[in-house]
Amino acid sequence: MNISTTQFIVNPGGKLHGTLRMPGDKSISHRAIMLGALAEGTTQVKGFLEGEDTLATLAAFRAMGVSIDRPTHGQVTIPGVGLHGLQVPSKPLYLGNSGTSMRLLSGLMAGQAFSVEMGGDASLSRRPMRRVTEPLTLMGARIETTEQGTPPLKIHGGQRLQGINYTMPIASAQLKSCLFLAGLYAEGTTCVTEPAPTRDHTERMLAGFGYTVKREGQRICLQRGGKLQAMSIDVPADISSAAFFMVGASIAQGSDILLKHVGINPTRTGVINILRQMGADIRLHNQRDVGGEPVADIRVCASPLHGIKIPQEQVPLAIDEFPVIFIAAACAEGKTVLTGAQELRVKESDRIQVMADGLQAVGIEAEPTPEGMVIQGGQMHGGIINSHGDHRIAMAFTIAALRAKETITIRDCANVATSFPNFVDLAQVAGIDINLKSQV
Ligand code: S3P
Repeated sequence: MNISTTQFIVNPGGKLHGTLRMPGDKSISHRAIMLGALAEGTTQVKGFLEGEDTLATLAAFRAMGVSIDRPTHGQVTIPGVGLHGLQVPSKPLYLGNSGTSMRLLSGLMAGQAFSVEMGGDASLSRRPMRRVTEPLTLMGARIETTEQGTPPLKIHGGQRLQGINYTMPIASAQLKSCLFLAGLYAEGTTCVTEPAPTRDHTERMLAGFGYTVKREGQRICLQRGGKLQAMSIDVPADISSAAFFMVGASIAQGSDILLKHVGINPTRTGVINILRQMGADIRLHNQRDVGGEPVADIRVCASPLHGIKIPQEQVPLAIDEFPVIFIAAACAEGKTVLTGAQELRVKESDRIQVMADGLQAVGIEAEPTPEGMVIQGGQMHGGIINSHGDHRIAMAFTIAALRAKETITIRDCANVATSFPNFVDLAQVAGIDINLKSQV
């Protein structure tokens, strides 16, 4: 068998400059396909992320009878089939690397009249699914997993779901969204209480489609019986992708970049809050509302950073940005301490271990703990990094090269296409000396 790997070879130094538009927000793009498919009428989406993860969601709905064409230049037309119009797919749904597709679809599929199987790649096949299957079972769903509670999942259709009042043991937007999608089909009311605020794109988008969602403090509820009315969606650029360039511009002397049309939903801006506390120079311009989501142009200029103790309440608000925040910490003066982030161990890779290994490989003192990391800022030399097929690890170490002394080679980078298909091009345009090497 041929094993195809993609490496990034990133030469040291450089600075970031210019005006850049990041690809569309991954979380919002997934939800646009899901809710658009369930709506009555035709939903038009622009700014859609044409990454492997969101295309996996799109393909799943096409397999269930929604005639969505492949997007062109971020534009997608979704002819909605209504809440009860999905059809049984002819084979198992393959969701690649995408945890969001699998966890959100689990809730939606639990409410259908037909059964489905869902699987994914090696990384997704290791990820914990009991966090969704347990509460869905309480609602009356019948779902089979492996003995370890991992995919593939077999969801038996035709079950009568009951609304529940569920307090989430973890701050997870995927779990919350999964339960709301099941709640669209469950008798009575489905309420979810969050231990801490998590991204609220599902609630905002449901409201945009005309579905009533009520929030009282940390408790959010919806009732069966509503309808989704098709709408137009303008997906903002993904702050999680912008984060790489925010850190890059902060750490590379002489940098000055403007990132256009970035989503700044307060449940996603932990990276801005954390970097500012470390001394970053980040300014928001032209703040506006785009279809219920706040958006801004973000200007970042280089600035000396210092280590901090990262506030716990920022953790869920920056959950996907820690790989690159760790790079900021490696370039900061003094020590940075992260706690309360055990969720990082069950992302696309174990991001605590994989980042600690990578930082040590380039000469930084990084001590992993069960739920975080302690990083002592210092000088990075070059080295070889294994990204373990995790897109955000690969991109984080690309940014690190801006401050390294020698070349950084990053292995197993093909999955960057899951969230940021034009990363290499944009990184080159912005001023990073990155070359792609494919080996067969
Ligand atoms: C996401 C929620 C987060 C995040 C993931 C996308 C979403 O996961 O890490 O990349 O779109 O709801 P958790 O809900 O597991 O924290």
